[in-house]
Amino acid sequence: MTASQRGDNHDHAPPSPGHGWHELAHQWDQRYSASPQVFRAEPDHTLVELVGALPAGRAVDLGAGEGRNSLWLASRGWNTTAVDASGVALQRLEANALAQGLHVSTLVADLVPYLEAAVSRGEHFGLVVMAYVHPGPEQRPGLLSAAASAVAPGGHLFVVGHHLSSLGKAGPPDPDRLYVEDDVRDALTGLELLRLDRRGGVSDVEDHGTDLVVWAQRPVGRLTGPPGR
Ligand SMILES: C[S@@+](CC[C@H](N)C(=O)[O-])C[C@H]1O[C@@H](n2cnc3c(N)ncnc32)[C@H](O)[C@@H]1O
Repeated sequence: MTASQRGDNHDHAPPSPGHGWHELAHQWDQRYSASPQVFRAEPDHTLVELVGALPAGRAVDLGAGEGRNSLWLASRGWNTTAVDASGVALQRLEANALAQGLHVSTLVADLVPYLEAAVSRGEHFGLVVMAYVHPGPEQRPGLLSAAASAVAPGGHLFVVGHHLSSLGKAGPPDPDRLYVEDDVRDALTGLELLRLDRRGGVSDVEDHGTDLVVWAQRPVGRLTGPPGR
């Protein structure tokens, strides 16, 4: 058993996962186990553009997978925590970090309970990253708003995912799992939206679709959204 599976590479035990999470974790473990590398190794190029100029701080990579973005952040001095359902993916990330002389804290956990527990302990991040995580429509608003709530004052949120217009070309075959601008706008309480636009799909694998890119910042001095939002 690895450090990531035990959770002892991190200060806190994983909180209880939501309904259906064990099945999801099992499916992702199987997918990662089927090949030595499932997703591309290079970090997301828009993340690199946007974050490259920021001073390093504490970052969390939600649904980090094999860790291409976590590893890049760690190489830039970010104190990075990678959270994922798949222990197989995080073992791979740990091996790559070791080989590159980098450190990334890893945690096998369900994203929303993890974020809620972190925020309730008063933990916030200078950077929250979520790349190509595609929950169903019942979970997506809660996941986006939990991700937003973990952004520290002055910190940023970066989300990229397959846009609805990618249907049939890239991403999940279920249209309800694809991103549209309005869903994102509605969910990011308390953050200032700096960028909400589409780009040609570069994705986690080669594709011919369209990605939705979200870049938002929590104004300095504000931890929660205005009343009623
Ligand atoms: C398409 S992969 C993207 C991996 C990585 N972000 C990248 O861009 O290379 C989606 C990842 O999200 C993780 N994931 C999906 N739902 C999750 C959940 N509820 N809790 C934790 N991880 C989740 C999966 O295990 C998988 O590794």
